[in-house]
Parts: sequence; C-alpha cells; structure tokens
Amino acid sequence: MSRAVSLHILPQQATHASEGQSASERPEVTSAARSTDHPRRLIDSHGRTIRDLRLSITDRCNLRCVYCMEPDVQFARRESLLSVAELLRVARQCVALGVEHIRITGGEPTVHPDLLAIIAGVAAIDGVRDVAMTTNGCLASAEALRNWKGAGLRRLTFSLDSVSEATFARMTRSNSPANSAGAVIAAIGRAVELGLGPVKVNAVIIRGQNEDEVPKLARLARAIGFEVRFIEFMPLDSGHRWDPSLLVPASEIIDRASEAGELVAHGRDADSSTSETFVFRDAPDVRIGVIAPVTRPFCGACSRLRITADGKIRPCLFSLAEVDLRSALRDVSTTDEHIEAILLDAVWSKQRGHGITAPDFRQPDRPMSAIGG
Ligand code: 5AD
Ligand code: SF4
Repeated sequence: MSRAVSLHILPQQATHASEGQSASERPEVTSAARSTDHPRRLIDSHGRTIRDLRLSITDRCNLRCVYCMEPDVQFARRESLLSVAELLRVARQCVALGVEHIRITGGEPTVHPDLLAIIAGVAAIDGVRDVAMTTNGCLASAEALRNWKGAGLRRLTFSLDSVSEATFARMTRSNSPANSAGAVIAAIGRAVELGLGPVKVNAVIIRGQNEDEVPKLARLARAIGFEVRFIEFMPLDSGHRWDPSLLVPASEIIDRASEAGELVAHGRDADSSTSETFVFRDAPDVRIGVIAPVTRPFCGACSRLRITADGKIRPCLFSLAEVDLRSALRDVSTTDEHIEAILLDAVWSKQRGHGITAPDFRQPDRPMSAIGG
C-alpha cells in the first residue's frame, strides 16, 4: 500500500527521511564487496557496523495493543519458530561477528516456556556485554524478575502506554485484572528495586488515544525512578491503520512532558541511540526519552539487526525483503561459516533508511509483534 504523507520534518532531517531505497537503487550484495579482514564484522554497504541484535523469541502475546496486533492475529505455526538451540546458535554467531548487545523481544518474550534457558544461554555467550529484554510486564512477578536476573538478564524495558486503567484497557484490548496498568506499574517498581536497570518504559503515543497520558507518565517516571521513552506511532500495526493524522510528533510530546517539570535537552547518548534524552531541570538524574522515527529519523547511525522468531533476518524494521536463516539452520550439513556468510550478506543489504515519509513508502507485511521491537 502506498500513501501520500505530508508531515512536518525539520529541514536537516529531510534527507534522512527520504532515504528509503527501492531495490533497484540498493547496491548489489557481493561477498567481494565486504571486507575479508579478520575478524569479520557485520558491516552494511552504507558503512554502519552492527552491534545490537534484537532477537525475537516468539510472535505470541497476552495483549493485543492497538498499534501492534489485531484481536484475530494469525500466529506462525509452532514448528516454524526457532528452537532454543537454534536461537542460541544465531545469537552466538552474531556475537562472533561483532554483536555486543542482545535484546530479547517478542511478541511478548515472557510467554515463552523456555525463557530462562534462553536468557541463560544468551548471557553465557563469550563477548556479550549486555542482555536486555522488552516486556509488557504482565507476567513480571517478583519471582519471575528474580529468576530472570539470576539467569543473567541485566536490563528490562517495559511497555506501558497509560497509567489510567480505562486507557490501558482500550489500548491493550484487555480487561483482565491481571493485565492492568496498576499491575505493570508495580512490576516496574520491583524491577527498579531489583536493579534490572536502568529500567526503561516505552510508551507509544497515538492521537486521540493517549496523548494526555504523556505528563502522567513523566510524573510517574520521576516518582518511581525509571526512564520513560515516548515513541512516535510507526506504520507497523497489523491492522494497517497507521495514518499521519494519528501521529503525535516529538515536538508536541516534549511540550506535553514539560507539564511534569521543565526539561533540559541532553541529545543522544550515542549516535546510534534511538532516543533523544531530556532531564528535568530540578531533577537532573530523571531522564525522559523521545523516540521519533517519523519526524526525527535516526537511521543514519543505526547499529541494529533483527532476527524474527521464525528465523528470518530483517536488516531493518521496515525491510520489505527478509533473508531466510531457518532452512540453513535446519540443514544438518550447514557449517558455521555458511551461517556467517548469510548474516554478512543480509547485513550488507541493509537499506539506508525507512522512508516512512516518502510518497512510495510501503508498510511491511509483518507487524511489530512478528518482527521484534
Ligand atoms: N509504533 C511504535 N512503537 C511500537 N511498538 C510496537 N508497535 C509499535 C508501533 N506501531 C513498540 C512498543 C514496544 C516495542 C517492542 O515496540 O512500545 O515496547
Ligand atoms: Fe503484545 Fe507488545 Fe504487541 Fe502490545 S506491543 S500486542 S504487548 S507484542
């Protein structure tokens, strides 16, 4: 589906925003084009080095957030999902090629029956500097948090779009008391106490749904001591309902967050960070982040690579083409070198940018839940 989009983009960002390339513009993938220096590294044809792996371990979820999953979502067949051994092999080979940070994602990773084995396996890989996980927090009991930490998890990022129960229920399409804003807020507090941090909380802001939650979440961040990261709604919803009119731009999000206290801009922690940071003038240790893929694209320094739960390599969140790794993983004759070559070639083909605002932008078929955030 193509869509004419007119959004307010700052002039210096306009070039990035129009950087989504058509297949014909992309450089051809050739092994010769890659460095053969040892050690081999995941480098793309735009000169970016991959250090962050988002490893999706399941496409299942216990919620149905409006910006992600439709109530009647069709999940992948169980046999098509990577086994624990396959997931760990991919992770190990990515680390051998220079990945340092691994984020375990879903769907909702905490519904995976072997989550502890996956965390422990990833944490045990020689060369991994950081193991994080993104969760909606509904299953983050005190015991679960202790177990995840014990297995080697270092950091948790929660998803919470609202502190008001009615808005939470509407956005997650869940009325179960177990899946309430209050339960997630309690879990966030436990994670902060346990030191699974810095604890971050993602909040996707959608016009007409939860823009009024921005100052409330910012106040909660101050009270509990987590970093809230407000995210612009991206066209990755399985209902394909994204529309520019639903976007709340970063500039407005920052204005609304300022209702919780005067904010001072701190820029990005690293060029590759997705988030621009602000701190409160009267509480400089409380950080507020804004992730603005639409109005302030940050593709230029992207260091991320995604593996889906069904074993596809997605060099970009918005890739229209993905590279199959699962069949190679399931062929007993496949050597580590062959897996390496597939990863290197896939990364080389990583597109320059997402092009959300380009007139010929096409939303990928996969929703966020089947990609891994
Ligand atoms: N737009 C922006 N962010 C999204 N997420 C999921 N779907 C979308 C979307 N369409 C975010 C959620 C979750 C993370 C994995 O991805 O906040 O925390
Ligand atoms: Fe589940 Fe996360 Fe998607 Fe919400 S955003 S439906 S919690 S996978």
